[in-house]
Amino acid sequence: MCLMSDQAVFRRKSMSMLEAETRQELHKYCRSWRRNGQRIALVPTMGNLHAGHLALVKAARGLADRVISSIYVNPTQFGKGEDIERYPRTLEADRLALAQAGCDLLFVPDIETIYPFGLENAVMIGAAPDLSSTLEGQFRPGHFDGVVTVVARLFNLVSPDVAVFGEKDYQQLLIIQRMVDDLAYRIRIHAVPTVREHSGLALSSRNSYLDKSQLETAQYLQAVLRDTATRAGEAGVELSVLEAQAAIQLREHQLAVEYVSIRRAQDLATPNDNDQDLRILAAVRCGKTRLIDNLKINRACNSGG
Ligand code: PAJ
Repeated sequence: MCLMSDQAVFRRKSMSMLEAETRQELHKYCRSWRRNGQRIALVPTMGNLHAGHLALVKAARGLADRVISSIYVNPTQFGKGEDIERYPRTLEADRLALAQAGCDLLFVPDIETIYPFGLENAVMIGAAPDLSSTLEGQFRPGHFDGVVTVVARLFNLVSPDVAVFGEKDYQQLLIIQRMVDDLAYRIRIHAVPTVREHSGLALSSRNSYLDKSQLETAQYLQAVLRDTATRAGEAGVELSVLEAQAAIQLREHQLAVEYVSIRRAQDLATPNDNDQDLRILAAVRCGKTRLIDNLKINRACNSGG
């Protein structure tokens, strides 16, 4: 019996992951898989991968025969003050992590592959205004237009059967689902729950900007949201009061609140008394680093008052 060391298995797996940079290379692989009747799952990312991204890849494995992950730091979703140059790029480590997680093909396009006519001349897609003008949209104008523009391009290039996104970016998830429904893409969107540190802090590429004491502070984001979500689940509570209290608690922990809001889970509308499927969403700044998080609220029937 031959026992391969972990490292050897790791090397073998990473060797077997394909890589494409151009549209032609990507099409070549996709075409041959389709010809063999294989279903394709797509996991779009901006790289600097952590266990949250890898959970999407692992979920994708169970949903299709082939998994394609893309790494592309998309300029059109970064605003003026947002430093795209500073976004962490760790391609070598990402490549190994993806191979180990069972990704079949890594798509690493350059800017000309995604925007062949240049950024100024790119056909831009507008995210649905009702979903994109609120919450993140208030603080990052144009961000979701950039997201749907790049995701539509990736969908057109890959034509996946299923695409996997994280609940970590809950508003993004709803906006992409809407794009699929509105533009009649024949792609299933699969959502994966947020992967967290032991402390409860949601994994994020931006966590790498935090120093040790900021990491301790940052965990209060999730703690306050969890506490508020539990209270919001009780019958008869005033949601606006809970939101205000949550904002105060976050500020007490030195987190600068951009928003903390309880919304209807399906469309981010302000909930009424009969809505039971809710979500609490928040964005804060911890030092210079912007953090977002959200949690599901299981609300008891509130019709009693
Ligand atoms: P990125 O921030 O790299 O995230 C890629 C995917 O990973 C998204 O679907 C995101 O929701 C998911 N993700 C991030 N952190 C997660 C966590 N802790 N648990 C579970 N899933 C997590 O989101 C983007 O890139 C971009 O906007 C993109 C969709 C790729 C378009 O450019």
